[in-house]
Amino acid sequence: MSSGPVLLPAPAHISFSGQSIRLEGIKIVWDRKATPLEKKAATRFLGRLEQLHGAATDTGPKTVLHIRTGQDPSYLTVNEREGYRLSVKGQNIRLEADGPAGVIHGFATILQLVHTGPSGRQITEADIQDAPRFSWRGLMIDVSRHFMSLETMERQLDAMELTKLNVLHWHLSDGTGFRIESLRYPKLQQAGAHHQYYTQSQVRSIVQYAADRGIRVVPEIDIPGHTLSLLQAYPELAAQQPVLVTDAAGRACTTSSADGQTTTHCNRRPNLNNAALNPVSPQVIDFAANLYAEIGKLFPDRYIHSGGDEVQDQQWLDNPAIVSYMKANGYKDVPALQAAFTAKIEKALAAQGKIMMGWDEVSEAPIPKDVVVEVWRNAKWTGSATKAGHPVVVSAGYYLDLLYSSANHYAVDPDATRPANLSAADTDRLLHQTLGRLESAFAPDPDMAPLDEAQRKMVLGGEAPLWAEIVSDEMLDARLWPRSAAIAERFWSPATVQDVDDLYRRLPVIMNELEKTGLLAREHTDRMIAELTPSNITPLTILTSVTVPVQNYAMNHLAAPAGDAMLKSPAAIASPDSFSAIEFNALAKRYAAGDRSVVEQLRKSLNIWATNDAAYVQVATSPQLQLAEPVSKQLSQLAVLGLEALEPGGHDRAWHKKAHQLLAVQDLTLIDPTSFAGKDRVIPPSGLLIAIVPGIHTLVQSTR
Ligand code: ACM
Repeated sequence: MSSGPVLLPAPAHISFSGQSIRLEGIKIVWDRKATPLEKKAATRFLGRLEQLHGAATDTGPKTVLHIRTGQDPSYLTVNEREGYRLSVKGQNIRLEADGPAGVIHGFATILQLVHTGPSGRQITEADIQDAPRFSWRGLMIDVSRHFMSLETMERQLDAMELTKLNVLHWHLSDGTGFRIESLRYPKLQQAGAHHQYYTQSQVRSIVQYAADRGIRVVPEIDIPGHTLSLLQAYPELAAQQPVLVTDAAGRACTTSSADGQTTTHCNRRPNLNNAALNPVSPQVIDFAANLYAEIGKLFPDRYIHSGGDEVQDQQWLDNPAIVSYMKANGYKDVPALQAAFTAKIEKALAAQGKIMMGWDEVSEAPIPKDVVVEVWRNAKWTGSATKAGHPVVVSAGYYLDLLYSSANHYAVDPDATRPANLSAADTDRLLHQTLGRLESAFAPDPDMAPLDEAQRKMVLGGEAPLWAEIVSDEMLDARLWPRSAAIAERFWSPATVQDVDDLYRRLPVIMNELEKTGLLAREHTDRMIAELTPSNITPLTILTSVTVPVQNYAMNHLAAPAGDAMLKSPAAIASPDSFSAIEFNALAKRYAAGDRSVVEQLRKSLNIWATNDAAYVQVATSPQLQLAEPVSKQLSQLAVLGLEALEPGGHDRAWHKKAHQLLAVQDLTLIDPTSFAGKDRVIPPSGLLIAIVPGIHTLVQSTR
């Protein structure tokens, strides 16, 4: 599909007649009385049609949308029936669905078949048979590291509906904040949330908002590690005393008293991920069971995520009582002790009618086969967990906080054993230099056997996690989208849908659709730019349109000394997908292949970038902006080089030497996702990489 309507995720089967027809008013005719849920879906559909293409005029024929759908008792479960068939022919649209999920998906597809033509709204005739490849297609949003408002969560649910994602995994607790109200343990929100949490009635409203859109909500209360915020409320449950106290910015605080005055000092950020529950305390098991029972009632979903990731050995081994318990009970190491803890939690959840889901560490525990294992470390765990008979949800390869491009995630298949383009040596090196989380980017394991048919059947699907250390509420939309749309297609469409150029043809169109129907990615980045450079937004707008943020958690390294300044920096604005640069790089390739029709377009872009630095230095009045001055200057130099490469002559030895030098500087930075700052690489202090470098390389080479 290289032209025609922009459908994303691509349907399983589609054929076009080649005709487009006018679409003025729509009359929806249900073959039976529509349910309240179906009526709400229809109202959203009609509202979005207007948002996207304007109101219908009264002239012209009315199109009839006939809807025939079953009542699916398994709606909003992993077994729900999501298939639909859609036919658009003349003034008749027929949507047949197996249940409410199929109706919702069908509406999303119809919206993508509509475009605004010279004479108003038009719809492309099509015959579609569609159903998802995987039944679990999720996003994981971390609201602990940075709190996300209700409205912000709702916007993501709207975008998920339109891209056919069906699970919100809500990471509600972690070291930084405990974000959900407990009536049974109110200190959790009083002492663990820094005043930012969801009340129970707000949680119910989000669950309902999601359910209306065909989206299940799986809550995560992460234990026994990642529990600092919980332990600030209930320090008696901790494996280590005293429990670190932090302020709202996550800095470590100490209090001292002198002359009857108590003063609090808060300084640099410690590691907020390490604090853990005491696994051998019966009080801890009771607490966890009661908390899950209370929270589980707010979420109708069968699944509840109990975390289980990254317990640091020393948290437990430095506590003599835990060590003697391990000796007395024959637990040889921390994973063995954690396995016993996991089994107890699983029993408690099962008694509450819930099915446990956990990060892949839980697969080492003696737990029933129905426990869903979320594979995050690498595909080896997909192999072992499916072999043990567990359903698996794969998030390794989809970590959005690594700040890779859509293309990178698009290349990862949930049920492939090699979702990677890194060598094992690279991964090793990277792991030593970054957070432990990095491995989840790519999971190379060349020796691993591919999944057999039985194992593949156990792969329910995938989830794209966005950990929010460096994602504020205003950044969320642009950090999740458009990349989540690319991943949505990977989870929904046939495995054979792989054309990256076609993905990038469609993503900007889909992004526009999402923005017009409520997403605020553009609006928020524009606002961030205006706040940073109020006198003239153009230079920073241009700079951030052709740069991408550094990958592999290099941003976290840059943020470590700077703290929250990184949230208001050019690198927080730049998107991991620079559509402008992708387009430029593609045009440069066409030029190199002999297509001279693109010269004017190339020159136009290059001229803008070539003159941008002079304007940028005028507006770069704050330290964060000044950090990006070298990158701004390099961008302009590279653009001048590109313009020179387009000239018929002048490419002598000296020019090539200069070109080589300019490009070498860029090649030492982190332009590709397989590289990370080491002794031969540098992290630009601005956190920005120039994304037109491949195109400039191409133009320079084409002079030879
Ligand atoms: C994780 O990234 N710690 C699940």
